[in-house]
Amino acid sequence: MSAPPRTVLTASPAEEAAIRAAVRAADGHTVAGPAHVEGLLALLSDPAVSGPIYDLPRPITRETVAAWVAESEALRQDGRCLLSVNFDEAGAMAGYTRITVWPERASGELAGARRADLQNSGGGRSGVARSVAWMFEVLGLRLIGLTAALDNVRSAKAIDGAGFKRMGEVESVKPDGTIRRSLYWELTRAEWARMHRL
Ligand SMILES: CC(C)(COP(=O)(O)OP(=O)(O)OC[C@H]1O[C@@H](n2cnc3c(N)ncnc32)[C@H](O)[C@@H]1OP(=O)(O)O)[C@@H](O)C(=O)NCCC(=O)NCCS
Repeated sequence: MSAPPRTVLTASPAEEAAIRAAVRAADGHTVAGPAHVEGLLALLSDPAVSGPIYDLPRPITRETVAAWVAESEALRQDGRCLLSVNFDEAGAMAGYTRITVWPERASGELAGARRADLQNSGGGRSGVARSVAWMFEVLGLRLIGLTAALDNVRSAKAIDGAGFKRMGEVESVKPDGTIRRSLYWELTRAEWARMHRL
């Protein structure tokens, strides 16, 4: 139920096609597939990981996670989503990232989590910054809109730290139709490039 940014951009047909192609290519990412369902199930079964994230399937079971992986892959083929997983040095699943893209609007959003034992280690801000740079530079997006639960202090700090502008609150719709109030941020590629003197 990811919602597109409030600001509405219009992509040219060529820009839209390039974004879709970049999402399909998923350069540098490990795209989640059937082989990752067990790892994702273990990761997301921990409420410290999945609790703050509104757009995950609920309840979290092997079946709902497998369906979510398959649905995300179908959306990737359409250039609209990238569900990727990452691993620690021992090869165990360390976290996931799910990027939702609206190619016709050159816009996207990002959600993700790290395994509980890896949280609070200072990786949040650098993780957000890395994903945002990839979405602007490799996917070619021009706008990213992000949300976080009102009480998600760590996410808010990481998002503020990446240079996003706070734009009040929005109502996020969970897969079961219930509403969660969220903080809302936006960042454009031009603002990001200025910040990094590109
Ligand atoms: C959100 C998440 C990815 C952040 O990663 P992390 O490694 O835990 O975060 P960090 O250790 O980098 O902390 C982020 C910031 O919050 C601050 N922080 C951490 N705990 C805090 C607390 N209790 N009070 C105030 N600030 C706190 C840190 O100092 C850091 O600020 P800084 O960047 O200015 O130094 C991770 O906590 C996570 O996976 N959480 C569960 C899922 C989730 O919430 N996903 C995001 C949904 S929008």
